[in-house]
Amino acid sequence: MSWTTCARPGMTERQLQIELEVEFARAGSPRTAYGSIVGTGADGAVLHFAPGTRELRDGDLVLIDAAAEWNGYAADITRTFPVSGRFDGIQRDLYQLVANVQQEAIDAVRPGIEYRDLHMRAAHAIAEGLVDLDILRGDPAELVECDAHAIFFPHGLGHMLGLSTHDAGGCLAGRAPSDRFGLKWLRADLPLEENYVITIEPGIYFIRALLTDAHWRERYRTEVNWPRVDQMLDFGGIRIEDDVCVTANGSEVLSAGIPKSIEDIEAIQREAPRS
Ligand code: GLY
Ligand code: MN
Ligand code: MN
Repeated sequence: MSWTTCARPGMTERQLQIELEVEFARAGSPRTAYGSIVGTGADGAVLHFAPGTRELRDGDLVLIDAAAEWNGYAADITRTFPVSGRFDGIQRDLYQLVANVQQEAIDAVRPGIEYRDLHMRAAHAIAEGLVDLDILRGDPAELVECDAHAIFFPHGLGHMLGLSTHDAGGCLAGRAPSDRFGLKWLRADLPLEENYVITIEPGIYFIRALLTDAHWRERYRTEVNWPRVDQMLDFGGIRIEDDVCVTANGSEVLSAGIPKSIEDIEAIQREAPRS
């Protein structure tokens, strides 16, 4: 049984977490790598959400960020999928945007590239995609310059991964974290080297607390299409996270076996028994 095939309307986030963690244990893992995140509907927009009693509902997305520990090493993987088995219009558009941004970042991984540059390219691509969808308004480069993208992507592209989920050594000695809204949560700021293992985890979220805050509404008064966004406050969030090893010429995605394309996710849900 997989995470998508056992998820069905009426099940709670907590029940889904239990099913997942039982499978980790059955497969021989001694513990989870971190507290499992399972959020459906608006809960998907809470970055480190502890699964609760909210029920999965047709029409909602489910975001699962969960992984097992193996031989002392942490994995850190996120997938987002529709409870109904089919992404609807704007879910599909936003999911495809996040998937494209993630693939472009993975394709750019190689020794020597600055992780911060990967993050900035992802921020630009998210801004561009949100302009195309008429959620942000303006020139993508200027939107990134004023950190407007970060109201929907308020975390870094990823981090180092190893014995710990957020592993040590993410910031090169002498570099200090930025205090810019769009950069201050970036956990990795260093040139990549062969055999480093990192996560690549772009996301787009509709975080009610941010989007209804007078400060942010005034700061991004013209950059955000507020009437549109006000109708999406319960959308939740989409994140796709993979674990990537830097190789001599590029990278190897260690979590590549877990389906993530729209076609693959919808196909396995079509095959799932639904009660
Ligand atoms: N699971 C925590 C993170 O993705 O960084
Ligand atoms: Mn992560
Ligand atoms: Mn994660």
